[in-house]
Amino acid sequence: MKLFSTFRGLLASCSLLALGITQALAFNNSRQDNVAVYWGQNSYGAAHSSDPPNWQKVISEYCQDDAIDALPIAFLNVFFSTGGMPEINLANTCGGNYFPGTSLSNCQFLAPNIKTCQAKGKIVTLSLGGASGSTTFTDDSQAQQFADTIWNLFLGGTSSIRPFGDVILDGVDLDIESGSGTGLAAFVTRLRTHISGAAKMYYVTAAPQCVHPDAHLQSALDAVAFDAVYVQFYNNYCGLNNYPDQFNFGTWDTWAKTKSPNKDVKVYIGAPASATAAGSGYVDAKTLINIALDTRSKYSSFGGVMLWDASQAVANDRYDLAIKNGIRQAGRGGPGGSKPAPPGGIQCAHVPSWKPDVAYRGGDKVIYKGHLWIAKWWSQASIPGGIVGDWLDLGPCIRAAVPELEFQRYYGVQEDMY
Ligand SMILES: *[C@@H]1O[C@H](CO)[C@@H](O)[C@H](O)[C@H]1NC(C)=O
Repeated sequence: MKLFSTFRGLLASCSLLALGITQALAFNNSRQDNVAVYWGQNSYGAAHSSDPPNWQKVISEYCQDDAIDALPIAFLNVFFSTGGMPEINLANTCGGNYFPGTSLSNCQFLAPNIKTCQAKGKIVTLSLGGASGSTTFTDDSQAQQFADTIWNLFLGGTSSIRPFGDVILDGVDLDIESGSGTGLAAFVTRLRTHISGAAKMYYVTAAPQCVHPDAHLQSALDAVAFDAVYVQFYNNYCGLNNYPDQFNFGTWDTWAKTKSPNKDVKVYIGAPASATAAGSGYVDAKTLINIALDTRSKYSSFGGVMLWDASQAVANDRYDLAIKNGIRQAGRGGPGGSKPAPPGGIQCAHVPSWKPDVAYRGGDKVIYKGHLWIAKWWSQASIPGGIVGDWLDLGPCIRAAVPELEFQRYYGVQEDMY
């Protein structure tokens, strides 16, 4: 994964309307339709420097609907810097305002944004590493101490410097792309001793390249328990672009069931969220959905899809939402969604007609010209089917709208309505 290291000041944060509904659903690691999307590196901005309006927004902008279940924050990219403290890099979103005597950015303004995502049942974790990271340990004891630092700065411990304030992140992701792996297993083991004493659920994940064994992570992957691996099926011969011949999900499934200390570890298909998100491996949404469904039918370790990254997914016609809708399974854990349209059309009772004066949020459903539409993101006075492309067409309704019924605004509150 690429590290976009230029700071261009803060983008004005977009309006965050108060949330009308709380999502009672918790993240469920056992499901096979989870979507994990990295946030933090503004991959779109790195590839499109002249299009700032579409650069990365604050994290809560990506939590407005139920497309994304897990958001690893990318990245904590330097383990040991000024004052013995790490560094974090969030591209255009936070930087420069350092805690005294360190090069560690104070990003506490993001605390309410992260909490918004967590309150909707999404997990927000901290990803360590990245392609340009300085993320190696000299020995196990240094790694164990670093686990204490991470626990105190970002998770359930305490520290006078907390980059995200009183937010307690939901775990750690290892996207280590350098070094031989010295200390990584000791780091995870030490982290797990903290986790095992806590009431809250924490998740430890890793993002190996698809090439097996992974050059940097494999010794840790074989030695300690991970909850999920977000395998990067891109930038490599074993990537999605070489499906099915060289695509090696089966190798990772075998690793999960034989070598991994956690035999229930979930394996995700990691994919670029647009053609400019990786050197190779991008496939269109329909192709990725077909690959994911085929993989799920063959390999029980399949846990869902990981995308790099949020900015690219949104700019690419809500690739994240398309993938979620394509792999979504029935049952709680992912509210609402585009179940396949029944023969003859979709039941659209209780869905209001589209109105030009309503401010719609991502996930809102409306009826327009006899079709059910879902909002990709915030819009107002933007006609479904119009050239702006703010709405996704879910197909024709077999029953007309009942517009006088109360507007149930959020995707999911009427899961079984159609
Ligand atoms: C989590 O998902 C699994 C697999 O779909 C399901 O069997 C289990 O009941 C779910 N757990 C909860 C608490 O919903």
